[in-house]
Amino acid sequence: MATYHLKFFWGLLLAFSLYFIHSTSTSHVYIVYLGINQLHDPILTSKFHLQVLSDVFASEEDAKRSILYSYRNSFSGFSAKLNSSQATTLAKMENVVSVFRSKILKLHTTRSWDFLGLTLDDRGVTPLQLAYGHDVVIGIFDTGIWPESESFQEKPGMRPIPSSWKGVCVKGEKFEPAKACNRKLIGARYYLKGFEQAFGPLNTSGNPEYRSARDFLGHGTHTASTAAGSIVRSASFFGIGEGIARGGAPWARVAMYKICWGKNRVGRCTEADILAAFDDALHDGVHVISASFGATPPLSPFFASSADIGSFHAMQLGITAVFSAGNDGPDPSLVQNVAPWSLCVAASTIDRSFPTEIVLDSNFSIMGESIISKEIKGKLANAVTYFVNGVCNLGNWKQKLATGKIVLCFYIPGLVFEMAQEAVKTANGLGLIFAEPLTKPIADVEDTIPTVHVDISQGTIIGNYLAESPKLPLVRIAPSKTIIGKSPAPTVVYFSSRGPSSISPNILKPDITAPGTNILAAWPCQTPPTLLPGDSRSVKWNFQSGTSMSCPHVSGVVALVKSVHPEWSPAAIRSAIVTSAYTRDTSHDSILAGGSVAGSSPFDIGAGHINPLRAIDPGLIYDMKTSDYILFLCNMGYTQERIKRMVLPSPGVDTSCEHVVKTNANVNYPSISISNLQSTMTIKRTLRNVGWEKNAIYFGTTKKPDGVEVVIWPRVLIFSPLKQDISYYVTLKPLKKSQGRYDFGEIVWSDGFHYVRSPLVVLVNTAADSTVRSAI
Ligand SMILES: *[C@@H]1O[C@H](CO)[C@@H](O)[C@H](O)[C@H]1NC(C)=O
Ligand SMILES: *[C@@H]1O[C@H](CO)[C@@H](O)[C@H](O)[C@H]1NC(C)=O
Ligand SMILES: *[C@@H]1O[C@H](CO)[C@@H](O)[C@H](O)[C@H]1NC(C)=O
Repeated sequence: MATYHLKFFWGLLLAFSLYFIHSTSTSHVYIVYLGINQLHDPILTSKFHLQVLSDVFASEEDAKRSILYSYRNSFSGFSAKLNSSQATTLAKMENVVSVFRSKILKLHTTRSWDFLGLTLDDRGVTPLQLAYGHDVVIGIFDTGIWPESESFQEKPGMRPIPSSWKGVCVKGEKFEPAKACNRKLIGARYYLKGFEQAFGPLNTSGNPEYRSARDFLGHGTHTASTAAGSIVRSASFFGIGEGIARGGAPWARVAMYKICWGKNRVGRCTEADILAAFDDALHDGVHVISASFGATPPLSPFFASSADIGSFHAMQLGITAVFSAGNDGPDPSLVQNVAPWSLCVAASTIDRSFPTEIVLDSNFSIMGESIISKEIKGKLANAVTYFVNGVCNLGNWKQKLATGKIVLCFYIPGLVFEMAQEAVKTANGLGLIFAEPLTKPIADVEDTIPTVHVDISQGTIIGNYLAESPKLPLVRIAPSKTIIGKSPAPTVVYFSSRGPSSISPNILKPDITAPGTNILAAWPCQTPPTLLPGDSRSVKWNFQSGTSMSCPHVSGVVALVKSVHPEWSPAAIRSAIVTSAYTRDTSHDSILAGGSVAGSSPFDIGAGHINPLRAIDPGLIYDMKTSDYILFLCNMGYTQERIKRMVLPSPGVDTSCEHVVKTNANVNYPSISISNLQSTMTIKRTLRNVGWEKNAIYFGTTKKPDGVEVVIWPRVLIFSPLKQDISYYVTLKPLKKSQGRYDFGEIVWSDGFHYVRSPLVVLVNTAADSTVRSAI
């Protein structure tokens, strides 16, 4: 029953191409998406857009005034200021695939004013990174770039710009193409119309920003250097985290598409601008798109989302789009950017820590975690003095000042350390010692006031010392140290958004996890590392945390894989990355979730932690073509008329929904997720041998999810020069009653050298009257 209800629901929703339009006379920016570009001539396409738009305006002049962008280079559509009745009229037109409001998206840093950064790995640079990547262009959709950073200087030996590149370096405020662009930074564009419609003119006096691809917020500089920064020695943040800075693909080229802008130092990105960047980037010739932003759930249907539309067209052109999963964890089902044609990246910790000594009087010391560059001294004070019940948030502030005091605050459910920081700062405190369960050991230079994180037992010791002291103890916090080899690592960081996908639970999201905690990367030297106006420090490198930071790690690896295997499709590259991921930490235990004692599940880490060297040589791949995604869309309830408009015509691509089998379980995804196993079912997967040996024998093994029998057939796959692709079948039989929870297993194919691993995620739903949500 549940299945039919849902199908009916989708049918209703998808019968109309109009999404979430409430009747109102005020105008908003809408995106009118028309699918592939049938006209092949940008000028004609724009004329056509104006013609369509004129139908809902009194004159062509009015239509011209309302239009923001005509998307005409890589697909067809436009964005315009419309009232709801105009939007409704357009949605009913024959050529229109969808009409939706241009939403405002957020950057995926851990706090609103934290922005993206670039990863620094202290270990050496691998030969792989040195040999590959020259021919790959990574398009970064972000807040712009600081072109003077050493990460974006061309290094001796850098080859000429690939001849396929059609992009440009656009002049703008404090951005001179001749000086800014080189063989490393080969393109820079910016998109502002959607932002200015939503937030008014970009005011550079009251609101620091550059009307150009130059970065103020730092996020784009950080992510670009993480994905593809050149190799720079002796990078550090005031000596902390010192080592070699470099991107995942140090030889790859960077093209910046600035689509997120600062509004009071918070990054905002609009869908009208994002789609414009896709329209250009696909035409310019990027090979990888790295996008660290998203919309907080509820998620829009795939064709009411600029990121999903843009990445669908990217996929058809062989371009891989990599997105961040979001920072809404650890609650389930809030993962973002879940389209099956893109990659979705969770965030985890690395084995580096920044122990910070807290010395009480001269009697004893305790080690906390922070990123503090200068010694701090003050009186230790208890939160109870300043906050009702000792709960450090603004609502509880007793209006008593904590000037010169370092305040000890304890976590309670719902109180995140950012709230405590805000409260202690408002009380004029000098610093914060925040005691919390060991699940959130994340230090941050973005801190509004210096903060040392300690666990509950350390916090209790400090609290008891304070209680026994006749007068307020003197506390000294020493500059943080950098330690490599911390255990356990990696662990999934608490804020990383978790699966299952709320709109298509049969596609496992996130796909993969990568480092996203305390990542050191390039930073604009004229932007304070905390982004706060009072901070006058100038740095070349800064620490940032978020899935914003993990996403460009994967983009860099995608660039390397693409460079080694230029002919691989985005699905093949994703399969290589997903099936080669590892799930054990450096101590050979299961990767922990959120630092708790619980192990992680595929909803936390997807297939596991990225493993670049293995991803280059995965042995086998699960490939997918446009037709596989058509099957997926048909199953989701999208009509074949609309699907047809979005698909580039090519031989062998069938856009009809006739052969739909009512389940997405057979989509050749590299992970397997069955959100509604009611009775025995058999699913199919197809593997391709991409190993150096054309003759190869792979043996299959399974780890069964609790209460599910798993049989794979055949158990042995024999590849030969004549038989490169082989299908196998997985029969899943529920052996238990529904428990309303997912269980996890895996399928591994191995030739003794390669381990091609797929997570197997199953929700048993055998009860007839089950209310468990299902999806097609
Ligand atoms: C929307 O705009 C059109 C054209 O300007 C106008 O004719 C129409 O009355 C407007 N509709 C509403 C509901 O305001
Ligand atoms: C910018 O904003 C400030 C105050 O926020 C205002 O005084 C100034 O006129 C604005 N400048 C422009 C160019 O709009
Ligand atoms: C800490 O040391 C000071 C002086 O060295 C002493 O007066 C004080 O009692 C000590 N406090 C505790 C709790 O041991």
